[in-house]
Amino acid sequence: MSPSTGAILLAAGRGERAGGEKQFALLGGIPLFLHSARVMADWQFAALALVVPAGRELEVAEMLGARLAARYKLVAGGERRQDSVKAGLEALGDVDWVVVHDAARPFVDGEMVERVLKGACPSGAATVGTPLGDTLKRADGEGYIVETVDRKNLWSVQTPQAFRRDLLLGAHDESTGDATDDAALVERLGLRVALVEGPASNIKVTTREDLELAEAILGMRRADDA
Ligand code: CTP
Ligand code: MG
Repeated sequence: MSPSTGAILLAAGRGERAGGEKQFALLGGIPLFLHSARVMADWQFAALALVVPAGRELEVAEMLGARLAARYKLVAGGERRQDSVKAGLEALGDVDWVVVHDAARPFVDGEMVERVLKGACPSGAATVGTPLGDTLKRADGEGYIVETVDRKNLWSVQTPQAFRRDLLLGAHDESTGDATDDAALVERLGLRVALVEGPASNIKVTTREDLELAEAILGMRRADDA
């Protein structure tokens, strides 16, 4: 039997840096989370979990519409991102591989999903990321530079991230501290996480300003498609 793959789409954050639940803010006239929800639903995942703020499941099902709502298991999220991933993992059930994606990144596409899954094959874990281009400085906390950091081999990482399910479950069970992504939990176990270079357009909406940037990217894409 060929291995089965599930996906967890995370949309249960509070959006504090954006001044509110950014996953429901409108991008191109539809809620932000719906962009990635549509893309992920079109990929051949055996199971899909959409993690949302507790109590918002019905409202989100309506936003999804009947076709997409039938495709997703709606799950209540937790306090921290990793708690929401755990809730998603429990809802997915018995799949071999899991893709985790932040709904705050609307420009994921099927190719990124394919590539991160392929990248995860040898070691069981991979993330999309980009090698850093800017010159990096370490600061002293008072707005002054302490030193220049060599950017060789430095990457910023994004989602999607892909894992063997047993490995990700183990990493979550063993985790003690907080982590802003799942790769960090896996790294702490001493396991290798592959880096797969993704496009610069795979931005995360963190602030209100990012939402404007996302509108601009969307506008460019629509113009290209026309
Ligand atoms: N997320 C989640 N559950 C949490 C925290 C975050 O599902 N308890 C999701 C967010 O909805 C988002 C993704 O994880 O899609 C990345 O998190 P981040 O960009 O930090 O979003 P928020 O936590 O919502 O924003 P902030 O940290 O500014 O409050
Ligand atoms: Mg957060």
